[in-house]
Amino acid sequence: MTRKVTKAIFPVAGLGTRFLPATKSVPKEIMTLVDRPLIQYAIDEARAAGIKEFIFVTSRGKGALEDYFDTAPGLEAALRKKGKLDLLQELKNTNMESGAIAYIRQHQALGLGHAVWCARRLIADEPFAVILPDDVIAAEKPCLQQMTEAYAETGGCMVAAMEVPADRVSSYGILDVKEDRGSLVQAAGMVEKPERDQAPSNLAVIGRYILTPDVLRNLNRMKQGSGGEIQLTDAIAEEIANGRDVFGLRFRGQRFDCGSKAGFLQATVAFGLARDDLREEFADYLTELIALQNAAQ
Ligand code: G1P
Repeated sequence: MTRKVTKAIFPVAGLGTRFLPATKSVPKEIMTLVDRPLIQYAIDEARAAGIKEFIFVTSRGKGALEDYFDTAPGLEAALRKKGKLDLLQELKNTNMESGAIAYIRQHQALGLGHAVWCARRLIADEPFAVILPDDVIAAEKPCLQQMTEAYAETGGCMVAAMEVPADRVSSYGILDVKEDRGSLVQAAGMVEKPERDQAPSNLAVIGRYILTPDVLRNLNRMKQGSGGEIQLTDAIAEEIANGRDVFGLRFRGQRFDCGSKAGFLQATVAFGLARDDLREEFADYLTELIALQNAAQ
């Protein structure tokens, strides 16, 4: 029997330089897809997978994130007074039970592995999830839930996985496939951001992980990897080298790279079209826009 995963780490310390100047004063994770910040999608996904403790690895300038998950008594009273009960309900999703959320500072930007390692004392000795809020995944069954269900059968470590075009492998952690069982893949290795001609496959790690505490122990060594950073991928690959099982799950769903401008825009369009209250007006606008563009060509 595998132990239930109830803790998740959200690495949110990044500077978000790709979204400057917006990120000069707004944390990237607070930027909105339609009307909800990126971080809300990550939290909802974690909750659906049974996560009870939320650990944010933050940095200077991320205060807006802490406020977002706090109660807002003035705002709530004003909404109640105006009878805006639907909005009050919306706000409920942003509230966290006392003690369910913790913030740890990553004092230096030393890499994703280092950010995760910063939360080691809060994880202690149990399996845990990691969610990168930049990777937004639209799915009927939330991606992390697909993973926890698969993990209940397999144990070990598990990463979300997706095929990427060959010219994109150098942007991802890439799996070396030992056994391909369809949706589940057992890994023989993992490499962070390989050159195209050195990539063991084009199966990429997407920002969802279920990890054993051994991965945190591997990170204790602070080994520098790709880009001179302490890489989570390397600490997971060490588990494979130590004879432990590491799996990739080809999840069902659509992933948006909201760490890039193009990906963020695509997600905005997709999430806008998925909303009952916006679909018709937005779809009409897009159709008109495309017709105009075609006519101008
Ligand atoms: C991180 C991980 C990488 C993974 C990617 C998924 O890279 O290091 O292994 O494939 O997230 O989005 P980053 O995009 O932070 O450079």
